[in-house]
Amino acid sequence: MKKNSHLNPESRIQNPGSANPPHIILAASILGADPLNIERDLVRCETTKEVEWVQVDTIDGHFAPNISFGPDVVGHIRKRSSLFIDVHLMCERPLGLIRPFAENGADLITVHLEAKDAAYKGLRLIRSLGKKAGLALKPKTPLARALPLLPLVDLLLIMTVEPGFAGQKFINACLDKVRQAREIIERQRLQIPWIEVDGGINETTIPQVVRAGANVLVCGSSMFRETPAICVPRLRQAVASANNV
Ligand code: DX5
Repeated sequence: MKKNSHLNPESRIQNPGSANPPHIILAASILGADPLNIERDLVRCETTKEVEWVQVDTIDGHFAPNISFGPDVVGHIRKRSSLFIDVHLMCERPLGLIRPFAENGADLITVHLEAKDAAYKGLRLIRSLGKKAGLALKPKTPLARALPLLPLVDLLLIMTVEPGFAGQKFINACLDKVRQAREIIERQRLQIPWIEVDGGINETTIPQVVRAGANVLVCGSSMFRETPAICVPRLRQAVASANNV
């Protein structure tokens, strides 16, 4: 894999009100990859040239009943991948983890509004380390609770499943939250380039979430259930169909 030439997605930020369809980013979630062959699966994603981000879900066994990847995994990915590294901290107390992930090469770090550590401190720390800052909401958390923190974020993650595992079913009720988020960001002209959705994102749900206003699509099962060479064209086709309303 190419070293450290990861894409700078900034240049492809959605232009509110533009006539062109927004650029939609595919993020491969390694929680859905083969845990004994993560490098192989990431190379397969990069080879498609249609996957720009890798999402690393870090779960602490408390915030959600699973355990997953630590900062050292991000360090290995950074050394061998050109993908933009999006770290999603599903942790009760993420504050102490932010610096190690940043120092290991994360490009963006997301904390949960529901974490016991104050999200406010986490978002400010992430930006102070020169990284992009994300704020995640569980399905049952209303968007209103996130509004005071929006000036501190570059990405809003609307989870479309409960945190913890790949392979879950998309929660339709989350679509309204995506629409609300897109409407607020555009109406208030907030500098938040990315609305990300994560959980049950596949060929069937992609048209709905793209039309609702999401522009970063986290795909685990739908990326790796077969090889990415087979899966990615299907995902891109679903994105295209979203724009051909
Ligand atoms: C849930 C995880 C999953 C994962 C994507 O905590 O965040 O949503 O990234 O897995 P799929 O695409 O299989 O839902």
